[in-house]
Amino acid sequence: MGTPVHDEIPWLDSASREEVARVVEALYRVHSLATAVTDIDSLLVRISQEAKDVARAEAASVMLFDENTQELYFRTALGDSGDQDALKREVRLTLSQGIAGATAASRASINVHDAQGDARFYREADAASRFETRNLLAVPMIDHDQLVGVLEVLNKSDGGDFTDFDTRVMEMFGSLAAAEVISARLIEEKVRNERLAAIGQAVTGLSHYIKNIVTGLTSSADLIDMGLDRQNIEVLQRSWPVFRRSTKRIANFVQDMLSLSKPRKPVREACNLEEIIHDAHQTMEELFTQRKVDVVFDCQDVGGPVMLDAQAMHRCMLNLLGNAADAVEKTGGQVRIRVWRPDDEQVVIECEDTGPGVPDEHKREIFDMFFSTKGAKGTGLGLAATHKSIREHGGTIEVLDAPGGGACFRIVLPAPSVSESGQEERHPLLQS
Ligand SMILES: Nc1ncnc2c1ncn2[C@@H]1O[C@H](COP(=O)(O)OP(=O)(O)OP(=O)(O)O)[C@@H](O)[C@H]1O
Ligand SMILES: [Mg+2]
Repeated sequence: MGTPVHDEIPWLDSASREEVARVVEALYRVHSLATAVTDIDSLLVRISQEAKDVARAEAASVMLFDENTQELYFRTALGDSGDQDALKREVRLTLSQGIAGATAASRASINVHDAQGDARFYREADAASRFETRNLLAVPMIDHDQLVGVLEVLNKSDGGDFTDFDTRVMEMFGSLAAAEVISARLIEEKVRNERLAAIGQAVTGLSHYIKNIVTGLTSSADLIDMGLDRQNIEVLQRSWPVFRRSTKRIANFVQDMLSLSKPRKPVREACNLEEIIHDAHQTMEELFTQRKVDVVFDCQDVGGPVMLDAQAMHRCMLNLLGNAADAVEKTGGQVRIRVWRPDDEQVVIECEDTGPGVPDEHKREIFDMFFSTKGAKGTGLGLAATHKSIREHGGTIEVLDAPGGGACFRIVLPAPSVSESGQEERHPLLQS
């Protein structure tokens, strides 16, 4: 036993300086956890471990209080022996069961020297975990008068009993643990609320978008019906493109949603990049003609087929071309596509337009899901899906300012040529 540390706190007198230093260090570590760890389980494991070490116990556990059922359940149980996980699976205590129940009900610490001889002791917990409790110390976890749970340390390692000093120290651990659980719960709740708000916003935006398409579909279908009834070919010719466009928009929307819904490994095969780009352009040609947009191709020889996921690249190009067509819509203008190979391992695709460009403050956000400046005319999924596909290819996509002020999307893809990888397979999209 060392020199007493403090004259006015009697329980502190029994502790040596070394012991106090050890406790302060452990409390400091637990205190700093609050800012470093936000998930409740990791937090409680760390706190239980520190409590077990400081109290020199064989096991430690945290039971949390369930307000709805008014029961305690094991959230963390650490021990040198026994099956601690069984406690989590099998044991729940009411406030009148066990030492933990009594601690929670009285909101006061209980130090039991002979667990087996104590009538309150809940033997089923030992039976479930195949652990033999000799003695235990249970302290309430309370924050601002709110009961959060009970912290227990079991079996003093040196064979003795838990001391008054242990009780006071564990009470500090209990309060810290309670405050940290409450703060972790608040953070979780905030994240959940933010997510819900984002989903609400996204669903509202998507509903408008879908409503727009459905309006286009139903009105053109009505006109087609009318044209068929009256055998009026002119009405049919006018309404059919609107109908086709609406079905394409629905198909695109579904594809973007699907490609964003889970990680996907690119199915690489030998593709002719130029053909993919021309194919995407052809799919959108009607839109470009309608908007009087001139599309210029500047595809240098990329040295034959490259190993890419043709379908994914086709969708990326559709998204970039669709955005470029939207950007130059009011002005009429030009879209230029450039493809080149800076070296044997990479291929670069640029899609540049003469629209208004992307303002600096939006340059990062445009790749986020649901970011759109097009109101009910856009979902904000196109660039997010494109970004994801390119990343899954191991490539990058960025937006630059085109010399004339428009937007220039640059994709850099690792693309070993087919001859190097020895594959000759061709994608069906590219079969003529
Ligand atoms: N070429 C471009 N010029 C200017 N702004 C662009 C261009 N391409 C994208 N943007 C901006 O990025 C936003 C996000 O584009 P994204 O393709 O993800 O969604 P969207 O086009 O709005 O909707 P959709 O999901 O229907 O494609 C657009 O709303 C627009 O503000
Ligand atoms: Mg788009």
